[in-house]
Amino acid sequence: RPLDINIELPDEQSAQKLKIGIYFATWWALNVVFNIYNKKVLNAFPYPWLTSTLSLACGSLMMLVSWATRIAEAPKTDLDFWKTLFPVAVAHTIGHVAATVSMSKVAVSFTHIIKSGEPAFSVLVSRFFLGETFPLPVYLSLLPIIGGCALAAVTELNFNMIGFMGAMISNLAFVFRNIFSKKGMKGKSVSGMNYYACLSMMSLLILTPFAVAVEGPKMWAAGWENAVSQIGPNFVWWVVAQSVFYHLYNQVSYMSLDQISPLTFSIGNTMKRISVIVASIIIFHTPVQPVNALGAAIAILGTFLYSQAKM
Ligand code: 3PG
Repeated sequence: RPLDINIELPDEQSAQKLKIGIYFATWWALNVVFNIYNKKVLNAFPYPWLTSTLSLACGSLMMLVSWATRIAEAPKTDLDFWKTLFPVAVAHTIGHVAATVSMSKVAVSFTHIIKSGEPAFSVLVSRFFLGETFPLPVYLSLLPIIGGCALAAVTELNFNMIGFMGAMISNLAFVFRNIFSKKGMKGKSVSGMNYYACLSMMSLLILTPFAVAVEGPKMWAAGWENAVSQIGPNFVWWVVAQSVFYHLYNQVSYMSLDQISPLTFSIGNTMKRISVIVASIIIFHTPVQPVNALGAAIAILGTFLYSQAKM
């Protein structure tokens, strides 16, 4: 009965498209709000190791409460699951803290321009660590990505080496995270939402001792007092907002990863960066020179050429 199949398919396809469209729009919106509050917090309280830890702690708590109250069903996991999750969590922790350190030193837009170079890292890691080869157009698409990022970096008015390196380290770590998590999620019954919840919890355990060692309660107490005296008691809500939105945008992105190919995911991620770059430039009045904007545009165009070449 092929006729029935043909009649049903367009409906199913458009329902699926609508669902993915809703996931993407929610993911980008949550990400923009996270980036704004994260930067507002870091401007007043420049302790990125603590704010990264709080984001993971808040997400872990939200998921534990959801499981306990049965809003979400807790996953059934075994030791093997947690063992496979460990390298993903190490990469997630490094990528997260490196991006936050970067944003504490430079404009949000600059961090995300450098982070739009992630596909280049993905190709280089797959080529040199996994021995994968790609067709020539894929390699050629790396030229505008790398060239555009380089142009944006050298013309950045508030360039800072830690800010730049943080974004680069985050790119590298997230490429490994994506490779490991693709392997870890394959064939497992744990949903994208619960997979990200477990990832948050494990990353929190990994990050906490390092955050204490690098910054520590003494610095945090003095910094907090200073931030509250500048901003007022509302400061605590900014911290809550950045933590809650961090968890939500990541959760939605892992939920959409369940539904789409990694390639569609990376295109969605690049489009997310465009919304963040534009929104943060407007909100924080970030000064941008035309040649700097040109670099960002070339890098982003490069990531689209990359996705076309990979297709
Ligand atoms: C983080 O703090 O983990 C970064 O802001 C993440 O950036 P991304 O999810 O946009 O790659």
